[in-house]
Amino acid sequence: MADLGCSAGPNTLLVVSKVMDIIGTKSQKLNRPPPSLQAFLNDLPGNDFNTIFKSLPSFYKKLENVKGSSFGHCFITAVPGSFYGRLFPNNSLHFVHSSYALMWLSEAPKQLVSKEAMNKGNICIAKTSPPPVFNAYLEQFERDFKMFLKAEELVPGGRMVLTTMGSIKSDDPLCIWEVVGLNLNDMVWEGLIEAEKLDTFNLPYYAPTTEEVKKAIEIEGSFTLLKLEVFKMDWDLT
Ligand SMILES: C[S@@+](CC[C@H](N)C(=O)[O-])C[C@H]1O[C@@H](n2cnc3c(N)ncnc32)[C@H](O)[C@@H]1O
Repeated sequence: MADLGCSAGPNTLLVVSKVMDIIGTKSQKLNRPPPSLQAFLNDLPGNDFNTIFKSLPSFYKKLENVKGSSFGHCFITAVPGSFYGRLFPNNSLHFVHSSYALMWLSEAPKQLVSKEAMNKGNICIAKTSPPPVFNAYLEQFERDFKMFLKAEELVPGGRMVLTTMGSIKSDDPLCIWEVVGLNLNDMVWEGLIEAEKLDTFNLPYYAPTTEEVKKAIEIEGSFTLLKLEVFKMDWDLT
């Protein structure tokens, strides 16, 4: 399996642990010896993979203590690189997981700054962004997601479970970055940031609607969508 955009923190090994649980329980039910799991943890090269590596001995120990010999071996490897490029050989993965990473695009749409700055005063799609900004971001999302879905790395019948930030309506985004943009505008007024710097800075961030996700999967054609769930999250989780 691969976890794309694994980061380095308390969530990093959660999915591997969960997958080990599921495989172990299923093997016991089927009265079969548990298979080994090879898990690839992927993130951008700047990710703190050393911290992950240092946590592996205690993770393996915990697996052994809690799950015992009825569970198979687990081998964890790190794969640095962008999930918008090729990371694995063809037909080498059975399961791909990605959580809260796909809203990060491979880059901010180039046309936002190619002539005049198009998204002045904002750092991503915001209510005051002109329509071409919405189109530019949607097109970038479509290009990136298409590349992501190509997934020649998966074996036939392989599956993906993806969680990403989404929007209810594409023309009415409710995005925490819009608020950050407003604060940066205040800083421009206060003379702390140059207006031009704010006008030409755009985050590579896009939260698609369910329709946009469905359409992209259908058009790309490698996958059949089995389940699409939407859940709301509060900004303030305290
Ligand atoms: C919000 S964290 C999510 C961490 C973890 N998956 C979770 O659910 O808690 C997003 C992670 O995705 C990574 N990421 C963003 N774009 C990526 C890309 N193109 N390729 C690989 N990782 C990427 C970031 O570096 C970051 O560590």
